[in-house]
Amino acid sequence: KAAMNKTLAKIANTVAANKEKVLSEFEGFEQLFHRFLTETGPSVDWEKIKLLADEAIKPYKELASPDDKQIHELLDKLVVVKLNGGLGTSMGCKGPKSAIAVRNEFTFLDLNVQQIETLNRKYNTDVPLVLMNSFNTDEDTEKILARYNQVRVNIFTFTQSRFPRINRESLLPIATNFGPESAEGWYPPGHGDIYASFYNSGLLEEFIKQGKKYMFISNIDNLGATVDLNILNGLINSEKKLEFLMEVTDKTRADIKVDEFKSISKFKIFNTNNLWVNLDAIKRVVEDRSIHMEIIVNPKTLDNGVNVIQLETAVGAAIKSFDGAKGINVPRSRFLPVKTTSDLLIIMSNLYSLRAGSLKMNPKRSFPTVPLCKLGSQFSKVKDFLYRFASIPDILELDHLTVSGDVTFGKNVTLKGTVIIIANHGDRIDIPSGAILENKIVSGNLRI
Ligand code: UTP
Repeated sequence: KAAMNKTLAKIANTVAANKEKVLSEFEGFEQLFHRFLTETGPSVDWEKIKLLADEAIKPYKELASPDDKQIHELLDKLVVVKLNGGLGTSMGCKGPKSAIAVRNEFTFLDLNVQQIETLNRKYNTDVPLVLMNSFNTDEDTEKILARYNQVRVNIFTFTQSRFPRINRESLLPIATNFGPESAEGWYPPGHGDIYASFYNSGLLEEFIKQGKKYMFISNIDNLGATVDLNILNGLINSEKKLEFLMEVTDKTRADIKVDEFKSISKFKIFNTNNLWVNLDAIKRVVEDRSIHMEIIVNPKTLDNGVNVIQLETAVGAAIKSFDGAKGINVPRSRFLPVKTTSDLLIIMSNLYSLRAGSLKMNPKRSFPTVPLCKLGSQFSKVKDFLYRFASIPDILELDHLTVSGDVTFGKNVTLKGTVIIIANHGDRIDIPSGAILENKIVSGNLRI
């Protein structure tokens, strides 16, 4: 621990700008590192995990809608925060994930701004939009935001902490400074960092002074995470103290992956990462240091072969540090994340229509379920995905799609029911323009 403190002090001495911010971030890291050294055993003991009592999770439909006259007053107490620290690397993109164009050339960021702008116009309010950037996304995000100075949304940003990756053997930082030669030595420590970073930015205090009461946090790539007036009404008008509300939703077959979390067998629901948290309560738990989040130890191997670990936390894990925390079981439509190009296919398709930054499922779909899509590795980068689809197919009646190998789609293709297209190694399959594939398996030259 002493060696760690010494190394961090040395690094801090190399910085000229924002020294105060750096020092408070390092303090945060030292606390996390200390816990990592002293807390033994796995961060989560699955044997001890119990299901929440039924009354702790309410069904969404039990919530009442607010009176029209009340809405303005409710929204006056709200701050919307989007987690924007992540990069688009998993979809083969450079820069922030929120800068990826997802629908009609609009990026996640554009759509989020449109959502809040529409809300503010409709109710004549000034709900602020706050972005938690990381040192990875800050610069590009600010450039994009320059477009929005005419828009009726007050946009605030703050930058989350920058923590040092540590060598897996020595447990000491691998970086010696913040310069480009040590770039691989730093990381944003997960979205659990929001509480400390928001506090340190001064924004928390500012919003409390303005009379704001709750913040609604969600992943910027979850286009279903719109401001829900029934939830906000339930929070503000609750008779009981309710400092933290987690939106959960039922699992579907698409969520069950083989090596997924041990939770599959135990839990029928999962955290959507849409969270509503009381601002005064955040101030309290940060100041008295009673906030507790399990440490996630994330091992990585750097380009130069060095094995490192990064210590992270997740925003939802703080639930137990708040009073009167509850879950609300929301419709699946509030969880529409884009993690892969398979998700992108669905979001870009005629299964949804875009209205004021929000995606609405096409009412013509007979079942309100999302099709199960699995595109192979040739599709995993956005650039390749766009090249392989001349236009996004009609998937209104699609139930299941698997595509593997060197496959391309012509214009105006329709996919219905279950469609499986497999081009074996060395083969290539071009689905011709205008083709209608219904309950079909296409493999090599063989068509069934
Ligand atoms: P993740 O990369 O954690 O996505 O980013 P995930 O795979 O869905 O993981 P979980 O289950 O939510 O943890 C989720 C959101 O958090 C932001 C990303 O930009 C994204 O919007 N994020 C992630 C941060 O803002 N900072 C971080 O350090 C990590």
